[in-house]
Amino acid sequence: MSENKKFQVGLGVSGGIAAYKAIEVLRLLQKADCDVQIAMTRHATEFIQPLTFRALTENYVLVDDYAPENPDPIAHINFSQKIDLLLIVPATANIIAKFAGGIADDFLSSTYLASNAPVLLAPAMNTSMWEHAATRRNVEHLKKDGVFFVEPVAGELACKTVGTGKLEDVENIVQQALEILNSKYQFENSKKDLTGENVLITIGGTREVIDPVRFISNHSSGKMGFAVAVAARNRGAAVTIVRGVTSVEPPADVKIISAISAAEMHRAVMRELSDATIFIGAAAVADYRPKNVANSKIKKTGRDFLTLELEKTADILADVANSKNEKLLVVGFAAETENVLDYARSKMEKKNLDLVIANDITKKGAGFNIDTNIATILIRGNKQEIDLPLMSKREMADKIFDEVVKLRKNLLTADLCR
Ligand code: PMT
Repeated sequence: MSENKKFQVGLGVSGGIAAYKAIEVLRLLQKADCDVQIAMTRHATEFIQPLTFRALTENYVLVDDYAPENPDPIAHINFSQKIDLLLIVPATANIIAKFAGGIADDFLSSTYLASNAPVLLAPAMNTSMWEHAATRRNVEHLKKDGVFFVEPVAGELACKTVGTGKLEDVENIVQQALEILNSKYQFENSKKDLTGENVLITIGGTREVIDPVRFISNHSSGKMGFAVAVAARNRGAAVTIVRGVTSVEPPADVKIISAISAAEMHRAVMRELSDATIFIGAAAVADYRPKNVANSKIKKTGRDFLTLELEKTADILADVANSKNEKLLVVGFAAETENVLDYARSKMEKKNLDLVIANDITKKGAGFNIDTNIATILIRGNKQEIDLPLMSKREMADKIFDEVVKLRKNLLTADLCR
């Protein structure tokens, strides 16, 4: 394989009718500066010739370790150690079952066991096979093992069935592969200046129940909080997330605790707090909840107006700051629509916070449910405020931790001088 390309991808092709789509995946990966080596199962070669892949990659296509023409006698080890990602397109029910069971009876399944690279599977199969209890079990098992999936979509299948089992669009498969590769690259190349820190983060919105069908909530997607979690993890911290309602999936390698309401989030945070050295309140926690929750659906018949009596929820951030010990740094967010900095400064004072990230959510490119943000960082004991212009939430998360790390160092120095 060429070492000059940005990423080395092992593309595994297993034996399904969608095997021909692996050619398009290969081409898109090559366009994205990836060096791709192909491994095929014996059944895959019934659908598509290894020669096609050999011509497109200019590499020997591995099917069988023991084939006399195989140039590398321990190919499954060498192949598996070189790759940054093992991507399987299509992943059949059979290869999924083998991976889940740790069976290594051919080149591809041996490579799966021998590789430490992240694994992304793009399954494609008949609907009944996809929905079969055995396949569901195997998929769940692999997810628990940390394997990523690009789930199949619904549509008309080759067998004329209409249902779920169709390979996801190749563009989406490649996009997900590149996201995994980029996040692995960022992880490996990040400074590890949060090593030893335990970061506890609240993320997403909360839901406050009105009756069995309705609730009060907000627009938080979790994107900002997850970006903070990824930055902390990449920089060496142990990360615990208390996750409210989010519309995006959490990152891998972090502890996740789910909480729907403000009260649940409060309980979870207080339980986890004793281990934390940095607390970050990125969640949009409801400030009020219905005082009385109706046991049955509130009917609208005969009512033109409905008045809900709301009561204040516990302020998680304030309670964390109040029970603060020497080692804990407390960071709050402030989502404001007017007098942003004044409100943020007063939050910092009132709640005794170390850092506040003030975001004016009326600005284009800032706030809820987008990938970018604009903010100002306020730091305790520091008159200078740091403006963060429009940037990705991921970049902003690193800027926040740059300030957290500086503050930690300053506090340690102040302690030593005392
Ligand atoms: O999730 P995204 O779609 O990416 O959007 C990101 C975001 C806009 C939600 C995020 O960047 C943000 O600003 N989060 C805080 C939103 C908020 O509720 O701000 P607030 O000003 O109402 O609260 C101030 C601080 O107190 C926040 O740290 C909040 O988590 C905390 N709080 C508030 C109320 C409460 N009962 N408990 C709390 O802990």
